[in-house]
Amino acid sequence: MTIAKIAFTAARVRRPPARTLRRVRDAMARDGAAAFDGLFPMSLLKKLRAEVLRRHESGELRRRGLVRDIAGRYAALLPFEGPFLDPAFYANPALHAMLESLLGGDYCIGSLETVIAEPGALRQHQHIDGPILFDRRVGGRKSAYEGDLSALPPYAVTLCVPLCDIDERNGPTAIWAGSHRTALGARPPGAAQVAREFNVERMVGKMGLSFFFDFRVFHGGEPNLSREPRPVLMFVFTRRWYRDPNLADVFPSVVISKRNLDRVPAVRRGLFMLAAAARLSRWQEKTK
Ligand SMILES: [Fe+2]
Repeated sequence: MTIAKIAFTAARVRRPPARTLRRVRDAMARDGAAAFDGLFPMSLLKKLRAEVLRRHESGELRRRGLVRDIAGRYAALLPFEGPFLDPAFYANPALHAMLESLLGGDYCIGSLETVIAEPGALRQHQHIDGPILFDRRVGGRKSAYEGDLSALPPYAVTLCVPLCDIDERNGPTAIWAGSHRTALGARPPGAAQVAREFNVERMVGKMGLSFFFDFRVFHGGEPNLSREPRPVLMFVFTRRWYRDPNLADVFPSVVISKRNLDRVPAVRRGLFMLAAAARLSRWQEKTK
């Protein structure tokens, strides 16, 4: 296994020592990904799983889905309600210590999504989740930024939390370790070049495994050859200035009611800055 895996025990889940944070930072710089065991209590994961499956089985998530079908899988935003409002989830101290080491002290939730791969889901195409681009267009001719952006630190990181055991058969996420360093080049590599130059790793493990991946790392969902749906959470964190281009036409990208936002401890309320309940409205009534 190329990608580093860090095990949290009940004693260490509070706040990791500096040595662990350096390990996470180095792993993200090298591979664009880092895996964790035991970041969340199993009792919480089981509640999150039950809530996602309830909404999936009722058809609600498909109706509200962001993407109807990606080769047999779909994505939908999840509201911060019920178990998702448990601070052990969104305010997990170990998670935030690691995010601070990657994104500085000033980041927010970009979105909380679930991706459900139905039985029979096919391989998802290899992709990155969101680049930053500095294209220019002069006289009808588009030119890419020629400078070297490969050493930029992360600006958006996804925490993937599988809500079931993941093996080779039920749709693990494949990650081309280290490929994030090539994603911001003036001419990003094609799928064949990425596959040739970087080791692919399939993120398999028992429920309790979770992993970070950089928005720039090439990845894709593998086929689900099992008979069960494969639910995962995609919990996206970004520097405050970055907006996920996949959600450009979705508002709000963070779903929480005013009442629930008021229950969030003040020190963590800034995480929800993209929620409608956190925005100031000055003109809305007059333009109706
Ligand atoms: Fe993706």
